[in-house]
Amino acid sequence: MKLAEYEIMSAVEDEHWWYVGLRDLLARLLRQREWPASGLSVLDAGCGTGANLRFLQQQLKPDTLCGFDFSPSAIERAQQKAPEAEIYECDLRQPQFRDGDFDLILSCDVLTETGLEAARDGMHQLTACLRPGGWLVLNLAAYEWLRSNHDQAVNTVQRFTCRTVREFVESLGLESRVLSYRMFPLLPAVVLARLPSMLRRGSSASAQSDLSIPAAPVNTFLKRALFAENFLIERGWGLPCGSSVICVAQRPAS
Ligand SMILES: C[S@@+](CC[C@H](N)C(=O)[O-])C[C@H]1O[C@@H](n2cnc3c(N)ncnc32)[C@H](O)[C@@H]1O
Repeated sequence: MKLAEYEIMSAVEDEHWWYVGLRDLLARLLRQREWPASGLSVLDAGCGTGANLRFLQQQLKPDTLCGFDFSPSAIERAQQKAPEAEIYECDLRQPQFRDGDFDLILSCDVLTETGLEAARDGMHQLTACLRPGGWLVLNLAAYEWLRSNHDQAVNTVQRFTCRTVREFVESLGLESRVLSYRMFPLLPAVVLARLPSMLRRGSSASAQSDLSIPAAPVNTFLKRALFAENFLIERGWGLPCGSSVICVAQRPAS
């Protein structure tokens, strides 16, 4: 990710409809799972500037909360937002993970930046740290054809389909429990908004992300659209298309 994008992400991630919508879905999916009464251990792999770590702290109140990122700029901001968490520098492609048995590993929009092949060994090592019955939650950008200037700004290496994600988690020895596209109702608007840069993609060295907070009524409307979609995904609907993929996978209990 370009350095300036960490500053933008840190500034908007509390309020921007996209982040609020994702955390609402994560909250719904996490509430559905059973967690140990004590000793809960949680990792955010590629924690960015820390809003998800703070969210995990509030939502699950884990005994151990860890996060890593390969960007010192992200880590510095994350430490301010989630002072309870142990946050360290680590590259998912050449991992030197701290020891740990985790009940939950969350990784949002990180494999998008590494690509699957570069992170395959790292993800194997990481998910080997999941306790039996533990959970991996991934959110990823969908569809190569949706690639735009935004992807250039945040260094997207790969966009995904549900099928690629299912095959990947199964190759890690996990069982997919929830798998759906997201942003289904908003997909036409995303395509329209991105169309000019999708057609010109790769041509702008000064590409910027889409991450600016729209006017308050629009931000609220978009959040509500995602809350409605999240309600369906929570109830087991697999949406047929969208600009992101959500996956909840479980390490078999034995
Ligand atoms: C799009 S941001 C998402 C941040 C956070 N997960 C969230 O959902 O808000 C992607 C993050 O992945 C981190 N990242 C990218 N490649 C990485 C790698 N190889 N190892 C560790 N972190 C990486 C980036 O530094 C960035 O903070």
